[in-house]
Amino acid sequence: MQIVILAAGKGTRMKSKSAKVIHTLCNKPMIEYIIEESLKLTPHLDVILNHQFETVKSIVSKYPVNIIKQDLKNFPGTGGALKEVSFKEDKILVLNGDMPLIKAEELKKFESKNADIVMSVMKLDNPEGYGRVVIKNGKVKKIVEQKDANEEELKIPYVNAGVYLFKKEVLEKYLPKLSNQNAQKEYYLTDIIEMAVKDGLEIEAIEVDEENFRGINSKKDLAYAEEIMCKRIKEFWMQEGVIMHLPNTIFIDANTTFLGECEVHSGCVIKDSTIIESEIRPLSVIESAVIKNSGVGPMARIRPKSELIDTHIGNFVEVKASKLKGVKAGHLSYLGDSEIEEGTNIGAGTITCNYDGKAKYKTKIGKNVFVGSDTQLIAPVIIEDDVIIAAGSTVNKDVKKGELAISRAPLKIIKDFYYKFFGRRD
Ligand code: UD1
Ligand code: MG
Repeated sequence: MQIVILAAGKGTRMKSKSAKVIHTLCNKPMIEYIIEESLKLTPHLDVILNHQFETVKSIVSKYPVNIIKQDLKNFPGTGGALKEVSFKEDKILVLNGDMPLIKAEELKKFESKNADIVMSVMKLDNPEGYGRVVIKNGKVKKIVEQKDANEEELKIPYVNAGVYLFKKEVLEKYLPKLSNQNAQKEYYLTDIIEMAVKDGLEIEAIEVDEENFRGINSKKDLAYAEEIMCKRIKEFWMQEGVIMHLPNTIFIDANTTFLGECEVHSGCVIKDSTIIESEIRPLSVIESAVIKNSGVGPMARIRPKSELIDTHIGNFVEVKASKLKGVKAGHLSYLGDSEIEEGTNIGAGTITCNYDGKAKYKTKIGKNVFVGSDTQLIAPVIIEDDVIIAAGSTVNKDVKKGELAISRAPLKIIKDFYYKFFGRRD
């Protein structure tokens, strides 16, 4: 079987600057999902592109697929999209590229059929937006696009889901006969059905569900589909042994991996990360990080290029591009571009001042260091092992092993100043 994915359209209804098929579900472009599912069934995959060709191509070409550019100007429409494809296998499965929820096992149902055309039909309470399937005496007669449908046809609850298996000869015969005499002035692939019916070809309809076959045409469709995809991802990880508290409130993207027993609390967002035997407490945001045998949050933010091992990160702590091993940073800190070693305690309010307005600099802190609260570490700076930094210090020099660093303006105490300033209240 050869699979052709149609992804050249503008996606006008998305009202977006980006091409429709590169909008993401769970932080992964929608076109990638359908490509990955298709590749489970055949290595022979064509993807039709045109709108924002270079951008979409840069994503699609990660996969071993054949990219074809549609002549959108002269042959617009889902029928026009197939014009440049050479049909090499006997059976051609055509898929709309805007169906990211589709699974290989669903597509397999088409492959085993032998009719001239096998099409996908959904029965919907609200068929809005889809092409309607006209059925008479239990037989498919034609597909009418919403924009071309009359009042009677608009009431039909059966819609075309956008997956079709064609015998090669069927496409070769009917594609050149398509016309663009319709509301959108496009060559509709769906018009093949009516021509084939008139010629007495065998058409089989498979009933499918919207949970797997939803087409994404608007940002509203995108949001619904993302919810389904994110639920699938979370259910997969729960099955693998991850504990999730109120999973409906958790966002885990398609690029995150959990290893060992992990626990994720309500309201967390985790993207592009690897979480190993760790607990991510409520309302924490984690991006492009590796977290191993650690606890993070509540309300912590771990930003890209961070690696936490055997570490405790508490509330309102932000970590960026830092490697922390065996560290405790319990409260209200910013640790950026830093490397901190075992046994070190970072007091509340510690800030690595990593940016001077022009460039970023590193902070290195060794083992068993006690960083007192409200310390500013002005990078670049190196704190060796066994150092104490007194609370409230501004550290702008390296500190050697075993030393105390303390910067403190002497505290003045002036007797009865309050009363001189505000006066007596009685
Ligand atoms: C299409 C079907 C409709 C069906 C629905 C299911 C047609 C004419 N209509 O409508 O019957 O109910 O899907 O979701 O086929 N594309 C191209 N080149 C083009 C135009 C579109 O490659 O010139 C691609 C798009 O990028 C998209 C797919 O084809 O991935 C479907 O196009 P879209 O505009 O979403 O069609 P629908 O109006 O949803
Ligand atoms: Mg569509």
